[in-house]
Amino acid sequence: MQDYIMEIKNLKKYFKLKENIFSKAKYVRAVDDVTFSVPRGSTYAVVGESGSGKTTLGRTILRLIDASAGEIIMDNKNVLDLSKKEFMEYRRKMQMVFQDPYNSLHPKKLVKTIIGEGMKIHFKGIKETEIRKRIAEVLNEVGLREEHMFRYPHEFSGGQRQRIAFARAIILNPNFIVLDEPTSALDVSVQAMVLKMLKDIKKREDLSYLFITHDLSVVDYLADHVAVMYLGEIVEKGPKSKVFNNPAHPYTELLLNSNPIPDPFTDRERIEVKGEVPNPINPPSGCRFHTRCRYAENICSEKKPEEEIVSEEHTNRCHFSLV
Ligand SMILES: Nc1ncnc2c1ncn2[C@@H]1O[C@H](COP(=O)(O)OP(=O)(O)OP(=O)(O)O)[C@@H](O)[C@H]1O
Ligand SMILES: [Mg+2]
Repeated sequence: MQDYIMEIKNLKKYFKLKENIFSKAKYVRAVDDVTFSVPRGSTYAVVGESGSGKTTLGRTILRLIDASAGEIIMDNKNVLDLSKKEFMEYRRKMQMVFQDPYNSLHPKKLVKTIIGEGMKIHFKGIKETEIRKRIAEVLNEVGLREEHMFRYPHEFSGGQRQRIAFARAIILNPNFIVLDEPTSALDVSVQAMVLKMLKDIKKREDLSYLFITHDLSVVDYLADHVAVMYLGEIVEKGPKSKVFNNPAHPYTELLLNSNPIPDPFTDRERIEVKGEVPNPINPPSGCRFHTRCRYAENICSEKKPEEEIVSEEHTNRCHFSLV
């Protein structure tokens, strides 16, 4: 039986918009009934256009924001039901690295404070020398040097800052890290080095990643599994090789065609991206993708497609599956 580090079941996050006394309350359905499981030790990628709900999903999973409904199962417990005290331990096990290396590190704090803070919170009374030793260890692990702990974030490049953010994430030996577009603000050559570091560290430590990105070549390099999100919903998910080689959902096909990945996709017919992403406050009826889908027929606006199994572990939500 597959061993999962985390199982997300029917997770929802609706943002309530400011009410007007004359109108009914409106909600942004940022994450709408999302279900997937992350195999232990894997890199699970979440892809989709801007506004599809990727960041909201990551933040909800880590309880940085409250879920509206659903379950997040880790070690046979629903993370959403944990008491504050129980949640402290989970906080240690689950970390997040954000997209923007310039805003995610406190500008007035030394690197050693930024990286070591978590240790002080989680290991009350720990000696300063112990903390320093561990900081030196993780700095080495992310490809920086011990003396870097006495510098401020502005003394580092973007790539180095992401290494610092990653050092902060791994110092407590987590087993699950949400990486939200960790390399998208970096130059391509720097991105490649940071991605390699992420891959190497995952191999050494017993880590699993939820990797949020809109860059399919990054998914191709790093991920074992992939979920494709559209307007808050997962439309297709499965092992990367299956989803990339045999996309079953027209939206996945569209993404693959509009994102250049070196072989095997270069020979495909290019599809124009028709129209803008619709408003998530008032998503299209039936299949949310029908307004942009080149295969859409009447049923697509009338009935929401059920999730269907394409092949082992590969699922799809479409009335006219491509495979
Ligand atoms: N705090 C909030 N209040 C209201 N709406 C929000 C809030 N945070 C996010 N949203 C909305 O939820 C939807 C999903 O946003 P989210 O940031 O999760 O998308 P994303 O897939 O991460 O996009 P990007 O690729 O641009 O980072 C968007 O329509 C966004 O405007
Ligand atoms: Mg985002």
